[in-house]
Amino acid sequence: MQDSFEQVTVLDNFYQTSFFYPMPVVLVTTVSEDGRTNIGPYSLCFPFGIAGRHAMMLISRADSNTAVNIRRSKLAALNFITDKKSHLANAVRLGYPGQTTDEKLKESIFTLLPSMRTVKEKNISYPEIIGEAVAVMECTWEDSPGIFSYRGSSEESHFLLVIDSIIMKKKWSQALINGNGRFPHLPVDYGYRDSKYFWFASHKRPYKEPIPSDKGIDINSIIYQIQRMPYDLKWEDGAYEKLVKVPRIFLKRVLESISRRAVEEGVKVITPQLLDEYNKKRR
Ligand SMILES: Cc1cc2nc3c(=O)[nH]c(=O)nc-3n(C[C@H](O)[C@H](O)[C@H](O)COP(=O)(O)O)c2cc1C
Repeated sequence: MQDSFEQVTVLDNFYQTSFFYPMPVVLVTTVSEDGRTNIGPYSLCFPFGIAGRHAMMLISRADSNTAVNIRRSKLAALNFITDKKSHLANAVRLGYPGQTTDEKLKESIFTLLPSMRTVKEKNISYPEIIGEAVAVMECTWEDSPGIFSYRGSSEESHFLLVIDSIIMKKKWSQALINGNGRFPHLPVDYGYRDSKYFWFASHKRPYKEPIPSDKGIDINSIIYQIQRMPYDLKWEDGAYEKLVKVPRIFLKRVLESISRRAVEEGVKVITPQLLDEYNKKRR
């Protein structure tokens, strides 16, 4: 027999007191007042603006070092660490509220490296990044209330962090492009649940589930595939339409070959006419 539902009281910090909510583990690096890089562990950190403006939402207690530093410098780097137990144990140690940046840096086992932003302004200190991270998002706080504002509890701060650059260990940026089913070992955090422990789950190898073959191909899945390819090309809407009849299993290969050819020929925009031309020549 199936287990039946019952009501759960919704308490403060509901995601960990009244729910089982899987979260990432991010070491947020920011620049403290004396110019040193502070490391704060955070889990309430999620994609927020995903098209056009690429941004993350970070939720922090309002008086954390991280929140104070972001309000002052507007800069933060989100360092995604692996599920290695010693790293997570150190992250928990660095998550003890009230410690100064100096105290934390003495306890940290992580390596700090210079920011890898390609565009840097003189006289600005950018947060260092964590050498052990799998990937890092280097961000700037978008503090215009016209873009995002939230009037909640004064104890929490919500930061819309616009992604200026993403850097990733080579092995994983290659996996991203090749789509070879290999994934970094990122942990899942279930939060601080019993006034005693943070609860983490280790990475488990993801499995694949094909999308239904009877659903046909639509323009959105073509756009989805194109956005995941490493070519700097603009596609006109009419060009997508030309491809809806391509059998799904060939779509990636066809898009790859069109894109590579366009790049080789110095083409910047894929138009319906260009696809007709390629098609005619192929025949
Ligand atoms: C794994 C982990 C996740 C955490 N996630 C959050 C979070 O999302 N928001 C938050 O305000 N505090 C979170 N904390 C608590 C902060 O780390 C803690 O307030 C710490 O003092 C922040 O460091 P900082 O003051 O140097 O920014 C988390 C702690 C750990 C260990």
